[in-house]
Amino acid sequence: MRDKIVAGNWKMNNDQSQTEALLKKLKHLDKPKEVRVMVAPAFTQLYQSTELLQGSGISVVAQNMNAADSGAYTGEISSGMLKGIGINAVILGHSERRSLFHETDEILAEKVKAALAAGMEVIFCFGEELEERKSQAHFEVVAQQLKTALFDLPASAWKQIILAYEPVWAIGTGETASPEQAQEMHAHIRKLVSENYDATLADALSILYGGSVKPNNAKEIFTGKDVDGGLIGGASLNAEDFMAIVNAF
Ligand code: 13P
Repeated sequence: MRDKIVAGNWKMNNDQSQTEALLKKLKHLDKPKEVRVMVAPAFTQLYQSTELLQGSGISVVAQNMNAADSGAYTGEISSGMLKGIGINAVILGHSERRSLFHETDEILAEKVKAALAAGMEVIFCFGEELEERKSQAHFEVVAQQLKTALFDLPASAWKQIILAYEPVWAIGTGETASPEQAQEMHAHIRKLVSENYDATLADALSILYGGSVKPNNAKEIFTGKDVDGGLIGGASLNAEDFMAIVNAF
């Protein structure tokens, strides 16, 4: 059985006191044992978050990292710095990193390798833009993203990979992929992984959906047999909404 996962990507939200308030609430809300819950606060709140969540079963994830171990990269954070404060997972390839900070799949391939070498888990995000879906290019776009960023990894590395399909047109727009669209794409992704590796590896891989997941649509989206959970933006900033999504399986 592959992991069911709900992860909250806080983006550039929540200062110290907001983080404390949100995590204290999250810690005390009920969650099903079989769901892995993760939160990704800003870099400045990571250490505080690991302390606040001790014993809660909720893990703390970084939103980005640099591929280099150290050096003249002003403003950047390395895997060693994250590991040093107990962070063992990182989100890479988010569409905002791609579009606003010009991260290509070639750059992301390097980041993924660095994170894996450091023993970290990677939540790898990808997905098509609206124009690409309108022109029916979405299956091919996603195939190319995975090929460039991930498909030269050894099979053994995939134990540390979680995929997050996030169609760009659904992020922060209130417009979500329909449960059928999500399932159709997730099945396509699992088939691609199976073709490049094998069915056993593809079967064990968790593939999350992200893009305007809310308490009122999570259950339907999670019914897809290849949809193993969600990467949640806006709704993860509210403890009750986030936990309602965690409990939507
Ligand atoms: P929203 O849930 O706000 O659409 O954001 C999704 C997302 O970008 C998660 O990484």
